[in-house]
Amino acid sequence: MHGMHARLPKNFVLEERLERYAAVIELEPAALAGRWAEASAPLGEKPFREVRLDVGCGKGAFLVASAQAEPDVLFIGLDAEPVCVAYASQHIMEAGLRNALIVPAKGSDVARIFAAGELAGMTINFPTPFPRKKEASKRLVALERLLEYRMVLAEDATLAFKTDHVPLFSFALTQFELAGYEIVCKSDDYRADHPDAPLSEYEERLAAAGARVHALIARVGELAEPPIQNASLSLVDYLPDDLHGLSYIPHGMQGTVVNLRNRRDREASRIAP
Ligand SMILES: C[S@@+](CC[C@H](N)C(=O)[O-])C[C@H]1O[C@@H](n2cnc3c(N)ncnc32)[C@H](O)[C@@H]1O
Repeated sequence: MHGMHARLPKNFVLEERLERYAAVIELEPAALAGRWAEASAPLGEKPFREVRLDVGCGKGAFLVASAQAEPDVLFIGLDAEPVCVAYASQHIMEAGLRNALIVPAKGSDVARIFAAGELAGMTINFPTPFPRKKEASKRLVALERLLEYRMVLAEDATLAFKTDHVPLFSFALTQFELAGYEIVCKSDDYRADHPDAPLSEYEERLAAAGARVHALIARVGELAEPPIQNASLSLVDYLPDDLHGLSYIPHGMQGTVVNLRNRRDREASRIAP
């Protein structure tokens, strides 16, 4: 998680928490594929108007704020980390929400949890960047994942992606294009452009550390043939040439940037007469 783990309180017992908030944790999500809007509606009430998914929801601040703003929409938060599942479900219950659920699962499970076209929208906020080449397939915005998301997004659904990580954002642009998405809009200062949009925990923390939010909204477009991965997979390759001009270095890349700067400076001083 960007190397920004919060410490757990002393009395934190994961199993106890998961049990306490079980009412909003869906343990058999695949059984609801195609039926989420009806099956999750409170007894005797009509189905939710639409279903939206927040992948890698973390502790759920964005999910809770989104669900509070639109009570007739079902918001599902998915996260692979049990501690996040416990916190996100706690926040849903404490907010008294009837239109939000948590699914403990991985991004690679999305296509078996939802039916074709079932999702009206999807958000990926500040996903773990996994900067190294050998971990590229773990990124929630890697080509393989984006191809799977295509299957469950409705025709006019939007997929919104936000990050403070410029190299990850540049990499993601290559992947969205390869996966046949249409970029509807793009911003290099999302917060300034959308001051009232709900905040996630990471956006709040990173903004306090001086980060700017890079964001895009995409829609499923044409995809004639199965795409071939031709993008560079190491995020180091997406760093700018002028490393001294970088005013903000994303978490987890500081060491790499310092080493690279030193190496480039040494090379430059060797070349200089
Ligand atoms: C950096 S945190 C961001 C959390 C939240 N979206 C926010 O903006 O505050 C990344 C989250 O993605 C989750 N995550 C990472 N890889 C995942 C995967 N393959 N599937 C599901 N969740 C994943 C992590 O457990 C973590 O909660």
